[in-house]
Amino acid sequence: MNDFIFQSPTRFVFGRGYADKIGEEVAALGAKRVLLVYGGGSVVRTGLLARVTSSLEAAGVAHVELLGVRPNPEVGLVRRGIELARAEKVDLVLAVGGGSVIDCSKAIAFGTPYQGDVWDFFSKKASIGACLPVACVLTIPAAGSEASASCVISNDELNLKRGVNGDVFRPRVAILDPEVTFTLPQYQTAAGAVDIICHICERFFSAAGPVPVTDNIACGIIRAVIDAANTVAEKPDDYDARATIMWSGTLAHNDLCGCGRASAPEKRAGGWESHGLEHEISAHRPEVTHGAGLAVILPAWMRYVWRADRERFLAFAQGVFDVEPVDETDEATEDAITYAIDELQRFFVGLGMPRTLADLGLAPEEVDGWLETLRQNKGDRFGELRPLTMDDARAIYLSAF
Ligand code: NZQ
Ligand code: ZN
Repeated sequence: MNDFIFQSPTRFVFGRGYADKIGEEVAALGAKRVLLVYGGGSVVRTGLLARVTSSLEAAGVAHVELLGVRPNPEVGLVRRGIELARAEKVDLVLAVGGGSVIDCSKAIAFGTPYQGDVWDFFSKKASIGACLPVACVLTIPAAGSEASASCVISNDELNLKRGVNGDVFRPRVAILDPEVTFTLPQYQTAAGAVDIICHICERFFSAAGPVPVTDNIACGIIRAVIDAANTVAEKPDDYDARATIMWSGTLAHNDLCGCGRASAPEKRAGGWESHGLEHEISAHRPEVTHGAGLAVILPAWMRYVWRADRERFLAFAQGVFDVEPVDETDEATEDAITYAIDELQRFFVGLGMPRTLADLGLAPEEVDGWLETLRQNKGDRFGELRPLTMDDARAIYLSAF
């Protein structure tokens, strides 16, 4: 078990009807005037926005609104949000939405006190210093941004999608009200389940050896998500299943599942290969849902690299899919591992996720463009369990058509 530092400072307020508590929660943080950020309108249609604004009013907290955050959020709207936050002198940024809205809010929060352009942080020209506090009412369990130290923003002009990390912009408070997720379309629910599982896998398949406590937590959460997502596919308003997915999404990405698995205490566990590969796709094609891209890329990556660490993949097969311990023969090992990868993909596809990149409307001719920006983002080699060259990345992309 490697050394680690685990910090999850967010206050999680979890339960039925708790969206109405947001006013008192941000007031308790000392907020007087907040920038309320939301997406393309689902929160208007579901009535959540009205609940949030009346909760703010009841708590004596004023607000101004920034709407229209798209999935795979773009830096242009972040810049507008920063102008608004400065002009209106807000003291907190409140995200009401999913990963896209929360990430847009985080970028506004650290971009507002900074005099230069916010993209400087993503191009590593500047490091994050001061930051407004962030709070959120989560509407889709998926990206885990409600607890994560990450913020992922696209720049359409440059065809780039980049993340920055920092504990300073982790939300101070996150309202997790599973009932607000009843309105999610099945496709988004499924993409969320994939993303949650992938956040755990990225850490599980780090180069560290077994870490029983973390590995059992990781496999246990994946199993819970598989059961709950199958239940929700049949019964979208099953509260316990929705609640299970929601809390799993948070624990998948607040670093709990990486404790003891990182190569150094200040580093995040794992090589994040599938995320690296997927982010290029949704950078070039913002209409691709992050989790749907991962549903194709994660199994393709697993099939490409498993021989680099058979023990790890066997542990996954046994921990998640109850594969019986196998004898030492290569054939038995390969059967067990490929069974587990196939099962994982069967689960994704069964939820309505794509099996191939072609299913997402993508064409092999696009791969060169993805590789170009992948190299800009990651250099010539990236990853941990089996470091990937650009030729490896090309092979994985092409194997997924
Ligand atoms: O925009 P609206 O109208 O609100 O609709 C959204 C959006 O179309 C809809 N939706 C959300 N909650 C709903 C709902 N529809 C009905 N009822 C509800 N309760 O769902 C769609 C997707 O929302 P989005 O916020 O884009 O989803 P997600 O949470 O998956 O976020 C994806 C973004 O997060 C990034 C991804 O790359 C992508 O840009 N990630 C952020 C991470 C982080 N900050 O830690 C880590 C992740 O790995 C990921 O990269
Ligand atoms: Zn993700």
